[in-house]
Amino acid sequence: MKTKEKVLNILKEIRGDFISGQEIAEKVFVTRAAVWKAIKALQDDGYDIDAVTNKGYRLKYEPDIINEETIQSAVNQGNTDLKVYHFNEVNSTNDTALELVKKHQRPVLVVADSQINGRGRRGREFYSPLNTGLYMSIAFCTDKSIKEFKNITALAASATALAIDEVVFDGNDTTKIKWVNDVFLDECKVAGILTECYETLEEDYKFIVIGIGINVYSPEKDFPKELKGIAGALFSGGASKDGDIRSQLCIAIVNNLFSFMEGAKEKCLSIYRNKSFLIGNYVKINNYQGNYDYAHVEGISDDYELLVIYDNGKKGSLFAGEVSVVKY
Ligand code: BTN
Repeated sequence: MKTKEKVLNILKEIRGDFISGQEIAEKVFVTRAAVWKAIKALQDDGYDIDAVTNKGYRLKYEPDIINEETIQSAVNQGNTDLKVYHFNEVNSTNDTALELVKKHQRPVLVVADSQINGRGRRGREFYSPLNTGLYMSIAFCTDKSIKEFKNITALAASATALAIDEVVFDGNDTTKIKWVNDVFLDECKVAGILTECYETLEEDYKFIVIGIGINVYSPEKDFPKELKGIAGALFSGGASKDGDIRSQLCIAIVNNLFSFMEGAKEKCLSIYRNKSFLIGNYVKINNYQGNYDYAHVEGISDDYELLVIYDNGKKGSLFAGEVSVVKY
């Protein structure tokens, strides 16, 4: 860890109090001049740090800057073996994660401040302006059957919704999930998941890429008009909460997802069901043949299928698709 990060961690630990340059220097094993240089660099990055003679330094405001090292050390504690990469701008974190997992043959987590061509399901764009969202992808290589991962999108949706509750809403159950992969807050979509699988004919193994996008802050110029009233942000109205929210969200998502993948299946399913706002509603189902079916949603199966009863009384279970609640 660089001196700058070490100094920042000390200031964060004693948040609100002053600490002398000498004390920091002793803790970090550097000179006072090196501490001052680190403080200057942090201030240039946007950290508001008081420097008062005879008192020392105090962190007043921490901007939401994604820190690769913070994420790396936290995900390693969770025993994930992920190699973390942070970029200012990429085309799509899903593409970068695929390139890196192929190149290094180990699981990777790619986080970016912005995406040029962020994509959603069904070829849609995922609006990814600079520093307003969390754009991340986890990629790994596997020789297991693809069937083993059929619920991965739902697991990622539970992991994301829970992480938002934990990091932003003090653990209170606030987010909702719209089957299959959308996370909602106050009737607006705040996060989406795009899972992709890449196979080659020559090799036995395949690559799984789980891409997660969260609108953390409202974009400076608001959402594009086609997303108005549909997309929302965790901190709307330009509010920016003090702290490294995006790094903390990323860490919480990874921890939740790995715990769900490694066996916390019941917990994941119960979160998914409890947060589902389709259950009990009458919905319109896009059947992708140019028309729609209508049905009442009864529940969610143990395999994350949407259990419905159509207007003609027939029961059905949907594995994938797009539905919307019919409002009377
Ligand atoms: C959807 O809502 O349809 C899915 C949106 C998924 C967006 C994320 S952002 C990180 C990753 N990279 C992408 O290009 N897409 C996913």
